Amino acid sequence: METTRRTVIAAAAAAGLTAATVGTAHGATVRKPVKELFGKLADGTKVHRWSLQNGGTRLKVLSYGGIVQSLEIPDRHGRHRNVSLGFDTIEDYVASSPYFGALIGRYGNRIAKGRFTLDGKPYQLAVNDGENSLHGGDKGFDKRVWDVEGFTSGSDVGLVLHYTSVDGEMGYPGTLRVKVTYTLTRHGDWRVDYAATTDKATVVNLTSHVYWNLAGEGSGSIYDHELSIAGSRYTPVDSGLIPTGELARVAGSPFDFRRAKTVGEDIREGHQQLLYGQGFDHNWVLDKGSTAKPEHVAVLRDPSSGRTLRIATTEPGLQFYSGNFLDGTLVGTGGRVYRQGDALCLETQHFPDSPNHPSFPSTVLRPGQTYRTTTVHSFGA
Ligand code: BGC
Repeated sequence: METTRRTVIAAAAAAGLTAATVGTAHGATVRKPVKELFGKLADGTKVHRWSLQNGGTRLKVLSYGGIVQSLEIPDRHGRHRNVSLGFDTIEDYVASSPYFGALIGRYGNRIAKGRFTLDGKPYQLAVNDGENSLHGGDKGFDKRVWDVEGFTSGSDVGLVLHYTSVDGEMGYPGTLRVKVTYTLTRHGDWRVDYAATTDKATVVNLTSHVYWNLAGEGSGSIYDHELSIAGSRYTPVDSGLIPTGELARVAGSPFDFRRAKTVGEDIREGHQQLLYGQGFDHNWVLDKGSTAKPEHVAVLRDPSSGRTLRIATTEPGLQFYSGNFLDGTLVGTGGRVYRQGDALCLETQHFPDSPNHPSFPSTVLRPGQTYRTTTVHSFGA
């Protein structure tokens, strides 16, 4: 255990903390999250950045969008690197971010033509992706300033983020009160607990949009990362990336990640679905289905650094997006340009366009119910 303690203390020293304020892996004391001013929005609203660390993981989170601005984990030699794409300034996030590190809501992924009917009533949402609504519309939860509080609890350290979305925001019915908890455990796991309540029937599908590159942000392509996904089916899409409703088998297709393979292995196959997505941009139907407790669904591994990410979730779906629309126009935190395939997203979720597919697991939330989902990211090397 001495090694773990040394790692924790070394990590603390690097972050400017003293050993006295940090416990062992068995964690008597953990350092409270530290808050600083990150910048201001055009209207003067302050945006804060929270820094926290535990078990070798260092996390920086913005009150704007609940954005994970940086997530550092060690490689097989104990060397930390930020493995999440992001920007240095609030101006960059506001100007044009493809949801780097952000909390996504009210509805992660697409709703066809931004339309759905609930209890016989038609709703029209803000449309921001061709004719469709993506990630909650043009001002989704990724562009809202959240109320953030830091906490320590036993050997855990974390943040509680609150946002209230008013009735009719982006076209969605009901006042939605959202609480997201980010926890760093003593093992360095990053756990995300989502909760929401409403005062009118509505639809909800919350997720997190971290762009992973386990070799380090700005280090180049993730096509040599190995990925496995515990899903025997996926939801094929049309040219607008809206599910057709079919749950297609992955067997015999580039979508078969049941055994680990590199992201790049089949990405250039002339498969119609890869043409539509310009790579992988699809929802996997997780074999475990919706579960009360988070269950293991995916492993990502970078052979060069040895870093691994394991994902467990309560959700029935996983969007694997291979960073296809990164196009060399954005410069990230390390001063390097992000190009196609420089990161990938693994978004735990309900299926895209569920409000228009009664056969998909329901995303309806009614007054009196509490929406609850959990995703746990575990790191190793
Ligand atoms: C979607 C992509 C989209 C990206 C936004 C992903 O969740 O699946 O289609 O382009 O978010 O950057």
